[in-house]
Amino acid sequence: MAQVSASALAVPHSRIRELAELAIRMDESTPDPNDKVLKLYFGESNLPTPEYIKRAAQKAMQDGYTYYTSNAGLLSTRRMIQRYYEDRHQVALDPESEIVVTTSGVQALNVAIRCVLDPGDEAIVLTPAWPNQSANVSMSNALPREVPHVLCGGRFNIDFTALEAALSSRTRLLIYTSPSNPLGWTATVEEQKQLLDFARRHDLWLLADEVYERLYYVPAKLGTPAPSILKLATRDDAVIAVQSFSKSYCMTGWRVGWLTARKDLAARATMLNEFIISHAPSFSQRAGESALEWGENTLRQMLAEFKINRDFCLAALRKMKRVTVPEPEGAFYLFPRIQGMTDSFGFCKQLLLDTKVGLAPGVAFGAGGEGYVRICYASERSILEKAMQRLSDFLAG
Ligand SMILES: Cc1ncc(COP(=O)(O)O)c(C=O)c1O
Repeated sequence: MAQVSASALAVPHSRIRELAELAIRMDESTPDPNDKVLKLYFGESNLPTPEYIKRAAQKAMQDGYTYYTSNAGLLSTRRMIQRYYEDRHQVALDPESEIVVTTSGVQALNVAIRCVLDPGDEAIVLTPAWPNQSANVSMSNALPREVPHVLCGGRFNIDFTALEAALSSRTRLLIYTSPSNPLGWTATVEEQKQLLDFARRHDLWLLADEVYERLYYVPAKLGTPAPSILKLATRDDAVIAVQSFSKSYCMTGWRVGWLTARKDLAARATMLNEFIISHAPSFSQRAGESALEWGENTLRQMLAEFKINRDFCLAALRKMKRVTVPEPEGAFYLFPRIQGMTDSFGFCKQLLLDTKVGLAPGVAFGAGGEGYVRICYASERSILEKAMQRLSDFLAG
C-alpha cells in the first residue's frame, strides 16, 4: 500500500492544537455563551483588525488588486517595508533585492529554512520557542537541535556554552526569536552581538524571528521597537529577519508577512515562492502597506492595554502558590513555572476540564518548556480576571 512519507510522519503535531481541539469540542456542547472556555492558549489578540486596514483592502479590491503579483510581492509593499526600516530602525534596505513579501510569518520561515538547509543538515533552535520553527526544520528533512534558554536571576539568558556544544559538522543555521514566544524574553543588543559573532565564527545562517518586535515594553516611550538584528548585521552577513503583519496590526487571518535577507537568499526565496504559494494575496499586501503607513497610533494604544494586562496577570500570578514568573520584556505572553508540575499537557488538560481555562502547555515549546505554561494576555480584562481567579483556585485546591 502507498504510504505517507517517513519525513512527513516525523513532523510532530502541535500540542497546543491538541488542547484547542478539546476546548472547541467542550464549547460546542455548551449552549450557554457565558460558560465558554476562557481561551488564552493561542497567540493572537481578540482585537479585530482596525477599520482603516479593512477599508484599504476593500479599496484595493475595487482598484483591481485581485490579480497575481510578483513572487517577491508588490514593489509598493516592499517600498513601504523599506521605509518602515528606515523610520523605525535607521536601517537601509534595497526593496528590489533584500525584501520579500510572504504569505505570513510562518511562510517566511518555511521558505527561508528551505533555502538554507539540505537534507541531513542541522539547525540550532533557541527554545522554548514557537514549535513551527523546529517543525519547519524537520519538514526540510533536517534536524532541529534545541538549546534551551536558562533562567538566571529572574531573566532568561542564552546558554552560549550549550550553543557551542550543540554544533556539529552539519550545523548550518541558528534560529532565535526576539521578543520570544513563549518567554517574552527580548534579546539585548549585547546578546544579539554575541549571537551574530557566534554565527559568523561558525559560518552559520542566523535567522531572527522578529514578528513581535513592536510589542516591546522596556522603553519609556511605548511603540519603540525591540532592537533588530538588521541594525547590527551588514547586508553581506548571512542574516535573515522574519516578520509579519499578524501581531502588530491584528491581521492574523490576512496571511501576510515578509523576510529580509542577503541578496542571494532573497532571490532564491523569491524564486521558490513561485512553487510554494506564488505570492501573498494582492489585496492583503495593499492592506499591509496601509498598516505600516497609518498604524502607529492604534499600535501604541494597543500596547498600552497589553502592558496593563501584563502587569495585572503578573501581579496575580505572583500571589499564587507554587508559581514563579519572570517579567516578560515583549510579545504578549507570560510563561510561569509551576513548582512540582512535570506534565504540563496533563496539567493544562485538567485545568481546562475542571475550570474552562485554556492555557498552552510548556512542553509544546520544545526543550526547556516542560514545567511551565503559557498564558496569552492579549485578551479582555474581564476574561483575564476570571482566568487568574480560577487558576489560583485550581492551584490552591
Ligand atoms: C514566534 C512566531 N513567529 C512567527 C509567527 C507567525 O505568524 P504568522 O504566520 O501569523 O505571520 C508566530 C505566530 O504565532 C510566532 O509566534
